[in-house]
Amino acid sequence: MEKIAVMTSGGDAPGMNAAVRAVVRTALYLGMEVVGIRRGFTGVMNGEFVPMSLGSVADTIQRGGTNLYTARCEPFKTEEGQREGYEALKKAGIEGLVVIGGDGSFHGAQALSRLGIRTIGLPGTIDNDIAYCDATIGFDTAVNTAIEAIDKIRDTATSHERTYVVEVMGRNAGDIALHVGLAGGAESILVPERPFSMDDIIRKLERGVARGKKHSIILVAEGAGRGMDIGKYLSEHTGFEVRVTVLGHIQRGGAPSAKDRVLASQLGAYAVQLLRDGESGKMATIYKGVLQAIDFDTVFSTPRLPDMSLYDLAETLAI
Ligand code: F6P
Repeated sequence: MEKIAVMTSGGDAPGMNAAVRAVVRTALYLGMEVVGIRRGFTGVMNGEFVPMSLGSVADTIQRGGTNLYTARCEPFKTEEGQREGYEALKKAGIEGLVVIGGDGSFHGAQALSRLGIRTIGLPGTIDNDIAYCDATIGFDTAVNTAIEAIDKIRDTATSHERTYVVEVMGRNAGDIALHVGLAGGAESILVPERPFSMDDIIRKLERGVARGKKHSIILVAEGAGRGMDIGKYLSEHTGFEVRVTVLGHIQRGGAPSAKDRVLASQLGAYAVQLLRDGESGKMATIYKGVLQAIDFDTVFSTPRLPDMSLYDLAETLAI
């Protein structure tokens, strides 16, 4: 394999630049030519290819966002769009492609693999919602960013003796909420994977107040409901003073944590080795502590759950 490309796709995640850097530098080390594709699959279709050198990824390992830009590309979901992308890659002499993104991006990568471009996916999303991953690139940083915010919210919650509802991202997965809730000492955690009752939440809040608690934090995963709705319900059905904070996109920004930089570097280098060895249609991952490649089909067909023991532990500790 002489020429490969690398791109980022879908929602950005801290650590994507570190992954691109590892892909570029490993490819150059192995004597391959490497190009960066701008704006995800939109750039594939439009031929937005830029040659990458050692210098083009210098000073990027610590940067949040993605220097290659990213996009969510609807036309690439069609056979026509995928064929157009394939032709553009072929014309540019690109034989292999590393796609850094979430499972939506992996579907695009799989389509290209079936058309004849070797592709490897790297799990890059703050949501941690991909099967066969101990963690996705960006998850650790997002959790740390959210915890920093929770700690700050707790200061003012204590001062005013208020109940705070904090909504975090995660799309349909409760991983961010679970980790942040446990690490931030939340009184209740609402995740899409576990049904909840508002009556139980209120009873818990009242029990806390009865034993002298001055404030509470209720963490809501966006997939479990809207923080605003939960806050409104609590205001209307309790005597507590309630405030709502939606953390939003700050969870996607910022310098990647050391853990994310290390993961991104390991996976980026491994993806290039897989391409060199003739692999395609697979996700490079660390699963159960082992660096491995899993077929996209297996990834897509395996239902995944967050570690729900964290939920039970958080419940016990917030008694
Ligand atoms: O997948 C990452 C994510 O940040 C989700 O947690 C969230 O639901 C979504 O992207 C937000 O997307 P957008 O940036 O397009 O609003």
